[in-house]
Amino acid sequence: MEFGNGNGTGTDNCNCNGNGIRNGNGIGNGNGNGNEKVKGANVIKMKPMDSELLREQGHIMVDFIADYYRDLQDSPQDFPVLSQVQPGYLRDMLPNSAPDQPESLNELLDDVTKKIMPGITHWQSPSYFAYYASSTSVAGFLGEMLNAGLSVVGFTWQTSPAATELEIIVLDWLAKLLQLPDHFLSTGHGGGVIQGTGCEAVLVVVLAARDRILKQVGKTVLPQLVVYASDQTHSSFRKACLIGGIHEDNIRLLRTDSSTNYGLLPESLEEAISHDLAKGFIPFFICATVGTTSSAAVDPLVPLGKIAKKYGIWMHVDAAYAGNACICPEYRKFIDGVENADSFNMNAHKWLFANQTCSPLWVKDRYALIAALKTNPEYLEYKVSEKDAVVNYKDWQISLSRRFRSLKLWMVLRLYGSENLRNFIREHVNLAKQFEDYVTQDPHFEVVTTRYFSLVCFRLVPVDGDEDKCNQRNRELLAAINSTGKIFISHTALSGQFILRFAVGAPLTEEKHGRLYKNMPLNLPATAIVKNILKETVEN
Ligand SMILES: Cc1ncc(COP(=O)(O)O)c(C=O)c1O
Repeated sequence: MEFGNGNGTGTDNCNCNGNGIRNGNGIGNGNGNGNEKVKGANVIKMKPMDSELLREQGHIMVDFIADYYRDLQDSPQDFPVLSQVQPGYLRDMLPNSAPDQPESLNELLDDVTKKIMPGITHWQSPSYFAYYASSTSVAGFLGEMLNAGLSVVGFTWQTSPAATELEIIVLDWLAKLLQLPDHFLSTGHGGGVIQGTGCEAVLVVVLAARDRILKQVGKTVLPQLVVYASDQTHSSFRKACLIGGIHEDNIRLLRTDSSTNYGLLPESLEEAISHDLAKGFIPFFICATVGTTSSAAVDPLVPLGKIAKKYGIWMHVDAAYAGNACICPEYRKFIDGVENADSFNMNAHKWLFANQTCSPLWVKDRYALIAALKTNPEYLEYKVSEKDAVVNYKDWQISLSRRFRSLKLWMVLRLYGSENLRNFIREHVNLAKQFEDYVTQDPHFEVVTTRYFSLVCFRLVPVDGDEDKCNQRNRELLAAINSTGKIFISHTALSGQFILRFAVGAPLTEEKHGRLYKNMPLNLPATAIVKNILKETVEN
């Protein structure tokens, strides 16, 4: 990794290092733009924001990051995809306390290279196929940069009108790309808001739905409230319910299996609701998922939505990963039925190149959300808000402070255009399909779920029907693959089976990075198989 070079000319207080960065006496650039010595005192006066210093050091940082992305591709041997360090590795490498005097950016970046990088799992590596990707892009990066630069805190409209208004507009744009029903647009009763994460999104809608039902049937019924989801639903749902005061015993995680490709069976939901109603419980919320975390399973929104409507239950659609693919007309069918949902969420940081974090949430009735989350301290009052003429996003989320996240989403949509975004997603799905083909052709392996998007779930097949041994072999295979550092895949469990997951979504991934199975020799133990897989990967 290389550092960018500055000009390296010094001043009295500057002990420059040839890279234009002070050593020891601060972070100035040697042109009098950095820290200055306070008259008569032995301290360096800090200048936290200086435009010329920002210009110089910003360039250095951009060079550093650009070099990182270049080297991830050109020198993959220097970047084990899964970090190989041991717990606590960093403690011995860093001092026990913060420095009293400023250090130089050069020293700091040197530490990043030598001490931080070994502890980085390279999510942006082209050979990253674990969990779901966290996709970056130049546009998303620049949006984050602009956000950091402006550093506004748009909790109310007044605190930065553009931050609120751009968010409304951009989420209307994205809603249209997803062909969401009109009631999710800001022009109706609903609207969009960018939450930090999917976990925050499900929490705020559980709270909104809870308060809506409590308002209808009375505050004392909280212990009778029940919620539904499949057993494949992301763990954030359970957490959201517990935070919302729903009793653990009232969280129904309905069983799924391979017969529905791990999608929720509508009959299971209706049966559970009937059963609960008969016992005096009050069903009020269902979380349906399009693209589950384990295997990208899809809950059927059309029948689930009908059931939700019939019983007056709030239906939330968690499409954190797969929702992104639904900007392509050929994948839009997976969210057919969203018309009957009360809320819909996707993570644009997963697969829409919007850099961590950016989790758009749309609600059908924004007043339900606001009723649950609105606070009105005097110190936040201002004239326009009294007329209820504007959106105050503090009332759509848990925290008060909020980032100007719509900037990067706006930049991604504008600088790439939706056609490019669709094609990029299609490319990822094609790469996953190719990988799936290799796996299918090899008798040692089986694909265990129907693939809809860019995730392939597969495993080594059992020998002599011994499932325990099979699980163990797959565990060993996973460990062997990831310990090489050349590629990172993850795992899950489905119906008691240990399953390997290969998820395409990193922005640098090309065909050569996923071509693992060509000409793989037969009848080899797991580690030998891995060696051959990796030989193939490197050769190709
Ligand atoms: C289906 C699904 N829902 C929710 C989440 C949680 O999203 P976040 O990490 O943004 O909270 C994930 C994360 O992978 C997910 O896959």
